[in-house]
Amino acid sequence: MTDVSSAPLAASDATATTGAVQDMSGASAASAPAAPANGKTPWETLPVTVKVNGISHGPMDVPAGLMMIDFLHETLGLTGSRLGCGQGICHACVVIVDHADGSSETVRTCITGANYFDGKTVRTVEGHAVRDTDEKLTLAPIQQAFLDHFSFQCGYCTPGFVNAATVLIEGLKRNPVARADLEAAITAGLNDQICRCTGYVRYYEAVRDVILRTPGCIKDAK
Ligand code: FES
Ligand code: FES
Repeated sequence: MTDVSSAPLAASDATATTGAVQDMSGASAASAPAAPANGKTPWETLPVTVKVNGISHGPMDVPAGLMMIDFLHETLGLTGSRLGCGQGICHACVVIVDHADGSSETVRTCITGANYFDGKTVRTVEGHAVRDTDEKLTLAPIQQAFLDHFSFQCGYCTPGFVNAATVLIEGLKRNPVARADLEAAITAGLNDQICRCTGYVRYYEAVRDVILRTPGCIKDAK
């Protein structure tokens, strides 16, 4: 088992759609308290082994109360997931959990402990864009559509919208809807995502755009 305090901390440098942000403080993360002489931590720990964006992490022990968003930020150095309300309301912090049957769902990382993800396969906002051997970054279609439609302003909510829209689109590929039911499907898929800046309209337009040009999402597409 690896103690969480020994896991690497990394800074990342991306945008709202790729999910990376710079550490504005410039300060390094605080070091964990020294382990007692008996080698045991004075707090309860729980095991975590998790695959994130195709990379396996663990097994390691984490504090029982450690929320997944802090595990992503501080332990894995994946700072793209946003802590908004911290109370399970705004869904800015959601990541994607992929299931063995091919389905997926979003999970709020501000109110879900890291241990919940033990044994799970997760995608964060950093996992959508692809970087080729020349370091050229190609955004996922939904990320590009959010840019093209000027869907966001501050971008704080965008990682959550990227993940929720991805789950929606992938779900429609497995279970297409009739064109007449598309607006209701988009509303259902994005309804939990809160944005404090925009009127949502451009987010919804971007998602509709991607769905309509993604083969297999609409039953009666001509
Ligand atoms: S930050 Fe997690 S739901 Fe708001
Ligand atoms: S763009 Fe600012 S919260 Fe959505």
